Amino acid sequence: MSGNITFTMIKPKAIADGHMGNIIKKIIEGGFNIKALKYTRLTKNDARKFYEVHKERPFYNDLVEFMSSGPIIAAVLEKDNAVEDYRTYIGSTNPAEAAEGTIRKLYATSIEANAVHGSDSDENALIESGFFFSQREMF
Ligand code: CMP
Repeated sequence: MSGNITFTMIKPKAIADGHMGNIIKKIIEGGFNIKALKYTRLTKNDARKFYEVHKERPFYNDLVEFMSSGPIIAAVLEKDNAVEDYRTYIGSTNPAEAAEGTIRKLYATSIEANAVHGSDSDENALIESGFFFSQREMF
């Protein structure tokens, strides 16, 4: 059975480009209920841990540098079929392949600075939410 939460981050470049408000608005308009939200910044070590599954990939070090380069928004989103629906809503990882109207098509500038992260499974949604939020920070 599919779960009803996913985890997202608005990445440093999208924040620096001033898209924070528009992206949050678009998330809400997409029918995702915000269960938790935080404006924060990853240390390099946080970013290494968060993206540990990618540690053998050639882009890992650059991704860690980028994700710790400035503030981010972290949020837990709730909706039926949240993981899959949010991945469709944000568009392909590579914004060049993202569908019209998706968050990445609108606000991403590269595959690394692809505006937002979205969990890839229910299991990872729980792990990633727990990385940023305690139970009493989720509503
Ligand atoms: P995200 O959804 O945050 O999950 C892993 C991230 O790695 C992904 O978004 C991209 O920003 C990044 N990524 C994936 N593939 C590549 C790639 N080929 N080159 C650079 N970054 C990548």
